[in-house]
Amino acid sequence: MASNKDLNKANKAKKDEFYTMLADIEVELKHYRKHFKGKTVLCNCDDPFESNFFKYFAMNFNYLGLKKLIATCYQGSPVIGEEFEQLSMFEMDGETPRRHPYKIEIAEVIDANGDGAVDLSDVEYLLRSKKNALTLLNGDGDFRSEECVNILKNADIVVTNPPFSLFREYVAQLVEYGKQFLIIGNLNAITYKEIFPLIKDNKLWLGYSIHSGDREFRVPDDYPLEAAGYRIDEQGRKYIRVKGVRWYTNLDYVERHTDLELWKKYTAEEYPRYDNFDGIDVASTADIPEDYFGVMGVPITFMDKYNPEQFEIIGCADYTGKYGSDELGISKIGAKWIKKYREQGGKGHYTANMTSLVYYDNAGKACNTFKRILIRRRRVSWR
Ligand SMILES: C[S@@+](CC[C@H](N)C(=O)[O-])C[C@H]1O[C@@H](n2cnc3c(N)ncnc32)[C@H](O)[C@@H]1O
Repeated sequence: MASNKDLNKANKAKKDEFYTMLADIEVELKHYRKHFKGKTVLCNCDDPFESNFFKYFAMNFNYLGLKKLIATCYQGSPVIGEEFEQLSMFEMDGETPRRHPYKIEIAEVIDANGDGAVDLSDVEYLLRSKKNALTLLNGDGDFRSEECVNILKNADIVVTNPPFSLFREYVAQLVEYGKQFLIIGNLNAITYKEIFPLIKDNKLWLGYSIHSGDREFRVPDDYPLEAAGYRIDEQGRKYIRVKGVRWYTNLDYVERHTDLELWKKYTAEEYPRYDNFDGIDVASTADIPEDYFGVMGVPITFMDKYNPEQFEIIGCADYTGKYGSDELGISKIGAKWIKKYREQGGKGHYTANMTSLVYYDNAGKACNTFKRILIRRRRVSWR
């Protein structure tokens, strides 16, 4: 099974080719129907013939009441144009679009082939019969290119799984152009320096589905299958399972305003106070005490349960202090804690100048938390 480490490796190697499964898209998208009526949707990291995002929106074009669906694909994609020869859809004035980035734009999906149903075959028919549905891009289809930014400017909602290695830039661009979006990313992106402030300010949150486990993605045929959790289907297509996947969005949905049920009572014994910060450590989100109103440090998976009316996000703590430990009032770990930690056989690469949150447990053991989101209850819950 692919772990976060595998994803990070994918980051480094710029192996950004993970194709999202249709079922995962359907499960998530059903919570956002009201946002799409009359809107232009852009999938800007998507070869329409490979992307299930394009497929989903083409199939649901009328159900969602879309105004327009646009997809653009990237030169670097190993699958780009693979289907051209097979489908020979786009013989355009003698030009061969194979291996050239292109844009597909559709403004209607009707029963074009007259078979009594409106489905993907109509989209294919439309693309075949309407020359202007497909145009070659001048550039390489990079979402940051001027040409693609101009397409972005005219879109309302961007929905895709962007390249993992460019996630920061990708989100920054969406925010810069004030776009609504629903995209796939890695759980660890929550604490990226560029992403966390958006989450803290309630401008970005996690989507409805995918809060644990792993998800399957198709990978290119030449993808090295080192990970344990992979399969090859009857057609020889390869799939891997990836952990730590999340949806990121700024589209609201009802369920994120549901209170997390709290049932535990605060006791000083169960919830250690940090040695270098005025707050308590809550090692598991499910154990957040219902009667504690001070600052608590929780794991980043808390974001899976976050209701902005129930909790306020104060900040984030880690060993580097990059989220502003001074402003948050987090002191350095200090020599005393380090000494104790080493005496107890601790082997972690901690130094006295670091700012991760540390504490002593009931038995006096020096414990480090690595990374915590700092939260505070906003109000007494309904219980
Ligand atoms: C994680 S894959 C997902 C593909 C597709 N969106 C899906 O979910 O099935 C990211 C895609 O972005 C493409 N890509 C990589 N760099 C890009 C860039 N700078 N601009 C646009 N697309 C890019 C890759 O070729 C790849 O197909």
